[in-house]
Amino acid sequence: MPVAQLDRASDFESEGCRFESCRAHHKGIKMKIIKPFGPSIGKFELKKTTIDKTNNYCDFIMASKTKSRKLDHSNKLIGNVEQQFIITKASFKKILENEIISAIKKYYLQVPGVKVKKVTIDSAWIVCQYAGDFNPPHIHRGNISGVGYLKIPSSISTGKEKGFAGHISFMDGRVSMPRNSPPLVQHRKTFKPKIGNLFIFPSFLMHDVHPFRGEGERRSFSFNAFVDS
Ligand SMILES: [Fe+2]
Repeated sequence: MPVAQLDRASDFESEGCRFESCRAHHKGIKMKIIKPFGPSIGKFELKKTTIDKTNNYCDFIMASKTKSRKLDHSNKLIGNVEQQFIITKASFKKILENEIISAIKKYYLQVPGVKVKKVTIDSAWIVCQYAGDFNPPHIHRGNISGVGYLKIPSSISTGKEKGFAGHISFMDGRVSMPRNSPPLVQHRKTFKPKIGNLFIFPSFLMHDVHPFRGEGERRSFSFNAFVDS
């Protein structure tokens, strides 16, 4: 079987649930999982007001040719995407900063004894994707990055499109041999984004965004941060 097929078979979020139920059936033996390796991904839900305010900011910029040209971020990003522009520092502070910083602090709680001293947002931008747009595998600048979802076309959310259309995949290249990876060790994790999802991850974690064919806009924002702990 080709490698891609093996990846595909065990890449959905539901796999985690199956693992949970297996564990529940083996209560006789005590077990402590020690998992010191591998990047983790924090999943959060944005407040409705934050989603609305960020969408309003985006609509405001898009309504003005001058503003969208001035804030255009396409030449700094790798994606083959219709529209990408910067969220100014002032707007980020006003709309998103509190929620993002508290998510980053929560994300760091997974490491006992480590406390976040300072978070510096390095950059933030909006990505508006339409049919055929995609983001090839890439990494970010900073220590910690994140992506939040603001609009999702119905062809993605209702699952009408095949495979991973419009999904985001995170890849950990250190484990790439199919024989010893899934399901115990995954080297790829794919999410179907929903409006309000916010993923926080180490900036070095490779990820890509799959294209879709349906009508409408897939809108997200991303950011890079430097975290002192
Ligand atoms: Fe990215």
